[in-house]
Amino acid sequence: MMRRHIVFLSGAGVSAESGLSTFRGKDGMWTNKEWVYLASTEALNNDTQRCLDFYNYRRKQLAEVSSNDAHRMIAELEKDFDVTIVTQNVDNLHERAGSTNVIHIHGELSKVCSMKDRTQCVKEYPLTTPIKIGDKGEDGAQIRPDIVMFGEKVDNIEEAVESISCADIFVIIGTSLKVYPAAGFTAFVPRKAKKYVIDPNEIRECTTLGYEHIKTNATEGMRLLTETLRKLQ
Ligand code: APR
Repeated sequence: MMRRHIVFLSGAGVSAESGLSTFRGKDGMWTNKEWVYLASTEALNNDTQRCLDFYNYRRKQLAEVSSNDAHRMIAELEKDFDVTIVTQNVDNLHERAGSTNVIHIHGELSKVCSMKDRTQCVKEYPLTTPIKIGDKGEDGAQIRPDIVMFGEKVDNIEEAVESISCADIFVIIGTSLKVYPAAGFTAFVPRKAKKYVIDPNEIRECTTLGYEHIKTNATEGMRLLTETLRKLQ
C-alpha cells in the first residue's frame, strides 16, 4: 500500500515541554524587548559581542535540554509514513529524536556561517563552544550563528512549499502562525489533505480553515494523533 505523506509545520510549542521557552506566550522570549533587538541584523552588525552572547546563551541552553515525547512520536511515524517536518524552530530536537527529513526555515543554532555571506562557511559548531569575536571562517570573515535574524530572508521556502503542496496529511503543531512566510503556508495545503492542529490555545486561522483541533499540549496531542493515524491505515 502507498505510504502516505505527512507534513508537520512545527513551532516553539513542540519544544516547550523540553524546557525551551516559546516566543509570544506569557513568559515568551520576545516579551523581553532587549532580546528582540539582539535577534536582529542591526544588533549583529552594530553590537556583535552582545548578539553573540545572546546566541551563545541559547546554544548552551540547547545543549542542556533533550527531545520530548512529541518529537519522538513524530520520528516514530517514519515507520509507516513519509514524514516531512517544516520547522520554524532553530533547535535540533527533531533530529535528536530521530527525524530524518527536517526543513529549517529560520536557521539552526547548532551551525555557524560567514558574516560576509550567510550561504558561506556553513558548518556544525559544538553548542558548548561560544562563538567569539575574531573566530573566522574559511573565507577569512567573522563567523556568526546560522540563524535567520529579524530583517533577513528566510531559508528553504521553495522546498517547504513543495513538500506542503503534496501532503496527504498536514499537521500544525505548537505555532501561533503569527510570523510570515510560515503563517502563509496554509494556502499551499491540498484541499483533499486531512488537516490537524495541535495547540492548547485556539489558532484562529486553523478554525477558519476547518482544521481538526487537538486542543492540548504537544506530547498528549501527538499521542492522540498517532492513535487517529493508526486507524487511517
Ligand atoms: N504544546 C503545544 N503547543 C504549545 C505548548 C505545548 N506544550 N506550549 C505553547 N504552545 C503553543 C502556543 O499556544 C502558541 O500557539 O505554541 C505556540 C507558540 O507560538 P510562538 O511563541 O509565537 O512561537 P512560534 O509560532 O514558533 O514563532 C514563530 O517567530 O519570532 C519568530 O523566529 C521566531 O520561529 C519563531 C517564529
